[in-house]
Amino acid sequence: MHSFRYHQGELFAENVPLQSLAEKHGTPLYVYSKATITGHFTRLDAALGKLNHLICYAVKANSNLAILNTIAKLGGGFDIVSAGELYRVIKAGGDAGKCTFAGVGKTRDEIEFALQHGIYCFNAESEAELRYINQVAGDLGKKAPVAVRVNPNVDAKTHAKITTGKSENKFGIDFDQILDVYSRVAAECPNLVIKGLQMHIGSQLTNVDPFLEAVQKVVPLVKQVKERHGIEFFSIGGGIGINYRQSLDSGDHAWWEKNAETHPLTVQAYAEAVVPHLEPLGLRILCEPGRFMVGNAGVLLTKVLYEKRGSAKTFKIVDAGMNDLIRPTLYEGWHQITPLKQPADDTLEKVDVVGPICESGDFLAQNRDIPLVKEGEYLAVLSAGAYGFTMASNYNTRPMPAEILVDGDKATVVRERQTLDDVLKGEHIA
Ligand code: LLP
Repeated sequence: MHSFRYHQGELFAENVPLQSLAEKHGTPLYVYSKATITGHFTRLDAALGKLNHLICYAVKANSNLAILNTIAKLGGGFDIVSAGELYRVIKAGGDAGKCTFAGVGKTRDEIEFALQHGIYCFNAESEAELRYINQVAGDLGKKAPVAVRVNPNVDAKTHAKITTGKSENKFGIDFDQILDVYSRVAAECPNLVIKGLQMHIGSQLTNVDPFLEAVQKVVPLVKQVKERHGIEFFSIGGGIGINYRQSLDSGDHAWWEKNAETHPLTVQAYAEAVVPHLEPLGLRILCEPGRFMVGNAGVLLTKVLYEKRGSAKTFKIVDAGMNDLIRPTLYEGWHQITPLKQPADDTLEKVDVVGPICESGDFLAQNRDIPLVKEGEYLAVLSAGAYGFTMASNYNTRPMPAEILVDGDKATVVRERQTLDDVLKGEHIA
């Protein structure tokens, strides 16, 4: 479900025509819909309603302060992976006491920062890390809340670069080692408080089966850890996939629901599969959705600069590049591309939509049938709300795009476009 629709031939975000934003703020430009984020949060919250649960939004998907603030106001917690993300959460009005801190390589500074702000829990990924957190907590005279991430060795059947729950991945501790690690830590680390167990098998899962397999495999382990160490939560991680192929038909807001059967992973299907296994645990259940919350809540607007007809291909050269949205080239990510003004002619042409970066991998789409768009016209790259801006860079000394949050009729600049001086800030000639 999202709030991007054509109305009288023009693409809108909620009640705001996107062309007006592109003209006013320039491109490349990220635009987010607040109603979409709120809708996603509320639907997931309702689907997990039977459980004592906390949604810890994975900040890495989109860490703009306005988005964090939106989620904080809905009562959400946050899954963070750095002190920087915790800093953002706090600045956005989020509650550190609802933050879990994931990641395989936490530093002393980060552990101290998190302890000082009273985070809910560290999700530790190795015994060495647990022992280090114990040491840092001891130095500060504090007790550190910890959970251990189990690697359940389940194939998430997603892109190799976003699979995390197999033994060959660097994440978590092997299933067979978990109980011993808990026992050793409980006996030898007096500054740790064992609070939970966590897992996360991968991202952009479009089928419920791997989730179910992982939950069924890990639940008996959770029971054992609960009996021995009296934990209070089990986090099932994130990973709920989104539909990257959208309908933008005007008025048809229920399209996604109506077509749910062609999209195997709805939150209802997800909840129906996992909740019955989780409820009897009698624990607080955490989940860490990133993409589900914001992916379809954001678009990247870009202008067609030039057209080039080569012997092999036609290129639409646009002003957004792989530095603005890296997913197509890094993960073979498929993002729907559509004009902001629907052409009268519904002819499609096969093109590569490419950016200005000096790399052959700089494309937003390849061999894609899109409507006829001319130089100077605008395109929207859809489903760009997750891992879009947060993975953007200044490669080729390109300033980071601006970000806009739309709420009904209102569009707010929630991050200004970088200036060249912003990009060069902190650099000196020796
Ligand atoms: N929890 C943990 C421990 C994670 O590592 C992740 C994502 C999440 C939750 C959130 O997963 P989600 O619900 O968004 O699938 N940049 C890639 C995705 C990387 C995901 C990394 N971890 C992409 O653009 O597809």
